[in-house]
Formats: sequence, C-alpha cells, structure tokens
Amino acid sequence: MKADEGAASVVVAIDGPAASGKSTVSRRLAGALGYLYVDSGALYRGVTWAALEQGIPGTDTARVLSCMAACRFAFEVADGAVVFTIDGFRPVGQLRTETVNRNVSPVAAVPEVRVQVVEWLRSLVRFGSLVMEGRDIGTKVFPASPFKFYLDAAPEERARRRHEEMAGQVSAAEVGESLKRRDLIDSRRQMDPLKVAADARVIDSTGMGVDDVVQVILADIEARRACAS
Ligand code: DC
Repeated sequence: MKADEGAASVVVAIDGPAASGKSTVSRRLAGALGYLYVDSGALYRGVTWAALEQGIPGTDTARVLSCMAACRFAFEVADGAVVFTIDGFRPVGQLRTETVNRNVSPVAAVPEVRVQVVEWLRSLVRFGSLVMEGRDIGTKVFPASPFKFYLDAAPEERARRRHEEMAGQVSAAEVGESLKRRDLIDSRRQMDPLKVAADARVIDSTGMGVDDVVQVILADIEARRACAS
C-alpha cells in the first residue's frame, strides 16, 4: 500500500455485541452512503474456520497461529462489500456454523490474531470509504474516525433475532445462553475488549426497525459533517 493510498477514505465504525443488528444495519447504511461494507468478525471467523479445516481447535493457540501464517488471505470487492479468500477459496456459509460459533471467541482473544486482523482491516481503506462493523472498530481499528456508533438491544430481543436467523437449528434458550457466553468472553478479554468508544453515539435498537436505525445514523453523520464544516 502506498503512503497516501486510502487517505481520502472515510470509515463509519459500527460496534456492538452479537445480534445487536449491526450486520443488517451496516450493509444497508453502506448502500445508502455508497460506501463498501466490511464485516470484521468474518475475518476472525475465517481464521477459526481455516484452523478447524485442519483439525485444529480454537483453543490450540500455537497451531492456530501457524495455520494463520501459512494461509494466504486476499481481499477483493464483491456485491458492495470487501470480502476475502483463503488460499483462493471464499468461505461464506462455512463461517456461520455452530462449530465456528463455538470456537471463534477464543481465537479472537489471541493477541497475535488480533494484531494481524487489525492490520488487514486498516489496509482495506485502499478500496475506498467503508462502513465497518465489529467490536473494536471505533476504539482500536479506526479510533480517529469521526463517525462511531455503538448498537445495542435488550438481551431478549437479541436472542429472539438470532434464534430467528438460525431457523430453529437450536432452541431459543440455547441461543440466549450462547450469546451470554460470547458477550462475557468478548467484554472480558484483555486485548481490545468490547466497549463503547468515548465519542460513539449509542443506539438502543430494541423495538426499532432496520430502516429506523439507518435513518438515525444517517442523520447523525449529516449533523456531524455540518458541525465540522
Ligand atoms: O460479529 P461476529 O459474531 O461475526 O464476531 C465473531 C467473533 O469475533 C466474536 O467472538 C467477536 C469477535 N470480533 C472481535 O473480537 N472484534 C471484531 N472487530 C469483530 C469480531
């Protein structure tokens, strides 16, 4: 990447816990702004999936790291998003299985994995302006972004949304428990835990539709731009 490449790109950071509605909102927001959508969690899932494919569980840190170093991650634009391939293969559905769900939090807690993923994420401004969703986008990946949002929703609503998404593969109670476990790991890990950036706008989306949330964010971006000019 050249020194000035991506310098004019804008990044909108959307952070929040699992099933807070970040993905749907971020995708739609990216479309409305004409920016590219980036799902940062997919990269942690990609590293996890690549390891699992080689029979390496998420808790075997040393082998997860060797696997990550040996795999070739490459990035490209597809359908309004920046996506990645691993050794030429683009995993999509493979990233969302229950096995990956169970193994990804320990992988995402490994400092060396985080350093690598943050480096990849920062490099993506070379593709243009981005709406990037995750847990630490406003606090760690792009702390200088003037556009930071933290989406949340009541635990019951998050569990209900995730249960619907999973089309009955697991019970509502199991989904609720799994979300609770992941919230704990994500917010207690030592490096870049999930927390609200000091200058983020917090949006509680409980009872709100996707379009309502997108409108709130668009209006906030507009207001911040007007203030800055
Ligand atoms: O958003 P998700 O469920 O796809 O995230 C998968 C895992 O990666 C989850 O354990 C949180 C973690 N993650 C992270 O630590 N930092 C990010 N920016 C995005 C995801």
